[in-house]
Amino acid sequence: MESVTKRYPDGTVAVDQLSLDIPDGSITVLVGPSGCGKTTTLRMINRMVEPTEGTILLDGTDIQRRPVTTLRRSMGYVIQNAGLFQHRTIVDNIATVPRMLGWGKQKARARAAELMERVGLDTSLARRYPYQLSGGQQQRVGVARALAADPPVLLMDEPFSAVDPVVRKGLQDELLRIQAELGKTIVFVTHDIDEAIKLGTMVAVLRTGGRLAQFASPAELLSAPADAFVEDFLGADRGVRRLSFFPSAALELTTAPVVRADAGAERFAAADAPYLLVTDADGRPLGWGTPAGLAAGDTAPDRLLPYGRPFVPGTDSLRAALDCAVLSPTGWAVAVDPDGRVTGVASQTTIGEAIRAAHAAGPADRAGVAP
Ligand SMILES: Nc1ncnc2c1ncn2[C@@H]1O[C@H](COP(=O)(O)OP(=O)(O)OP(=O)(O)O)[C@@H](O)[C@H]1O
Ligand SMILES: [Mg+2]
Repeated sequence: MESVTKRYPDGTVAVDQLSLDIPDGSITVLVGPSGCGKTTTLRMINRMVEPTEGTILLDGTDIQRRPVTTLRRSMGYVIQNAGLFQHRTIVDNIATVPRMLGWGKQKARARAAELMERVGLDTSLARRYPYQLSGGQQQRVGVARALAADPPVLLMDEPFSAVDPVVRKGLQDELLRIQAELGKTIVFVTHDIDEAIKLGTMVAVLRTGGRLAQFASPAELLSAPADAFVEDFLGADRGVRRLSFFPSAALELTTAPVVRADAGAERFAAADAPYLLVTDADGRPLGWGTPAGLAAGDTAPDRLLPYGRPFVPGTDSLRAALDCAVLSPTGWAVAVDPDGRVTGVASQTTIGEAIRAAHAAGPADRAGVAP
């Protein structure tokens, strides 16, 4: 988008001199308060709204030079509440665009069934009507419908705003998975900064009046907000949230306080730590005990302090490790391998040092770290 402005006939400037370079094959999120021009921007991309000034290029070609129908077929569109056709079954909703493109009924329905699986919908729902599905299921149908003709671009306008937080998280994870598998170019609108940070490869923060406040990766936004507006919009605990971009793999773990339940009273009594993490014979955590308590025979799991939620150093972030330490009754975070066997424990001091080192290293990307 090059210096794009939209002034509605009544004089409202919805978008003001917006320039954005939306990268191919990744998710770009437009985020900002209500009325800041997100929907207008999205609709200018598929020409549902025509800009007053400026140019929008798709793969280097001005979209004004493409026939509207061709342009729209290259862009799936998903809206809040899915916007399904109420009088059509799920399978026919999803098959809408392929049918319009002249596909035979069988082929279009086969494609619809394939897409239902891709978006995590049981194909037994195919013959139902939209009102017979939950909000989250309808939203998945909306995504499947937008993907039906395999367009390279997906435009999504607050697609997950109307569902509860648990369903929403599922839909977000599904979208990230679909994106990783299909490599679509997605422009995603939300007013939720956490959703923007979770989904976006790049995030454009817009302010009221349709002006761009910052265009950056989530890690950059959190580490260096451009101004007070962006900082305020990011909200509290941006420092802690930024830790989700740093891997915990380099955390120094110690195995000194880790003991097997059958290690014996002598081993427990000799330990030089305020608490010991007791494991079963397979190395899976059972809980924490004091050396004296364990030596006196209190090794049964129900006599131990809970070990909390462990973290997996290979895939979890420093934020997850910090959370484990904060939730642990002993202040020590328990590290496990992907099979749940203890690989060591990390103290709050160790995690604190890793956090300081991470902050000193500057912005990171999310390579290999689960959001
Ligand atoms: N057809 C229209 N005519 C006049 N003004 C409009 C029109 N459509 C939108 N606007 C105005 O343009 C501005 C941007 O609207 P837009 O719908 O793009 O905002 P938004 O960021 O998507 O907001 P929300 O988060 O509430 O969906 C608002 O002030 C809105 O009132
Ligand atoms: Mg909107």
